[in-house]
Amino acid sequence: MSILFEPLTIGRMEIQNRFVRSATYFGLADANGCIGDTSVQLMKALAANRVGLIMSGYAYVNRTGQVFADMNGIDADEQIPGYQRMTHAVHDEGGRICMQIAHGGVASTAAVARGERHLVVSARDARAGSSVKTVMSDADIESIIDDFGQAARRVQEAGFDGVQIHGAHGYLVTQFLSPSSNRRDDRWGGSLQNRMRFVLEVVRAIQRNVTADFPIMIKLGCRDYLDAGQGFTIEEGAEVAAALEREGVCFIEVSHGVGGRAFSKVSRGKESKPIREAYLVPDAEIIRQATTVPLAVVGGMRSLPVMESVLEAGTADCIALCRPLIRQPDLVQRWAEGYAQPADCVSCFACLKTDKDGNSDVQCREILKKQKKKKRKAVAGSH
Ligand SMILES: Cc1cc2nc3c(=O)[nH]c(=O)nc-3n(C[C@H](O)[C@H](O)[C@H](O)COP(=O)(O)O)c2cc1C
Repeated sequence: MSILFEPLTIGRMEIQNRFVRSATYFGLADANGCIGDTSVQLMKALAANRVGLIMSGYAYVNRTGQVFADMNGIDADEQIPGYQRMTHAVHDEGGRICMQIAHGGVASTAAVARGERHLVVSARDARAGSSVKTVMSDADIESIIDDFGQAARRVQEAGFDGVQIHGAHGYLVTQFLSPSSNRRDDRWGGSLQNRMRFVLEVVRAIQRNVTADFPIMIKLGCRDYLDAGQGFTIEEGAEVAAALEREGVCFIEVSHGVGGRAFSKVSRGKESKPIREAYLVPDAEIIRQATTVPLAVVGGMRSLPVMESVLEAGTADCIALCRPLIRQPDLVQRWAEGYAQPADCVSCFACLKTDKDGNSDVQCREILKKQKKKKRKAVAGSH
């Protein structure tokens, strides 16, 4: 049996194989952040197709951290029943599901559009655009940390198998970690010890609100893709990963921090120019040296031999996939049955389309293109 199909224990949770569905926002929540049946069915289908561990799309921990208008929320108890339907549906299929929780910080576009304060770590955050910004006070920071804790309480009440902190991709945790956005000179900024205080306090707030054995995980942006001297480095990422492990985090998904053009280049492919597979594996190798908890690595994983080699080398314990499962939700099941082709995903990132009101439509547009082409051919053939 391929190592990819061996079970793994993460904290108190056993997963049936090494495939993780990396958190994927689908733009399906209502104005109150509540989810409906389409979201439930999506997760159920992934579980039925043997994805070992599903991370739900990111959910905002409070309204000031909302990135998209139709993003999942986990800031109110009224949202819990919808998620209970989701966790039951996944468990009925023998799957495991954790919720990813987040605050957008400077990227909280939907919050700002609704008239919330635009909370930023530092006034000099280059990406803050033209809105009026409020540099977070100590009280603002403490209040967001509490909201992460309350959100995790709801996650456990909703029946999820664990909670994953979104600590990557330029959102709030990253904004504190990265010297490119964190120019504070108080206890939340400056030294690495100070920049990592926010995420460590988030972990502690979660621990105060869930049972001692509830798995707390993180998707960690282990380094920025910025010019030398500008951003969060992989050496710092390794120190943060080790500190998170000491704090009780039981699973780390290795991802990237603040992106930029350099990151677009490695993560985005065109049909004519496929991306390099496994582009975050060199970072995972460094995180592996600093930690002993199970690791997942995300980013461009597409073919079985590459995935197997990453696990066999001991660099990571799990392979996380996002875009391939948008295109082929049954991919893991097919691989389990002996299908040996790589994922069809061409890594174009066209799956995410957002309108001016901040509502998104997520689907594989390569498939749509192919369907249209087929239809045109059929019409032409019938004349
Ligand atoms: C449509 C879409 C939605 C995403 N939503 C999230 C999310 O909610 N949380 C997150 O951490 N990453 C999110 N990501 C990033 C992916 O989880 C993943 O890190 C990235 O796409 C690289 O992995 P891949 O090459 O397997 O797609 C999203 C990506 C896409 C394309």
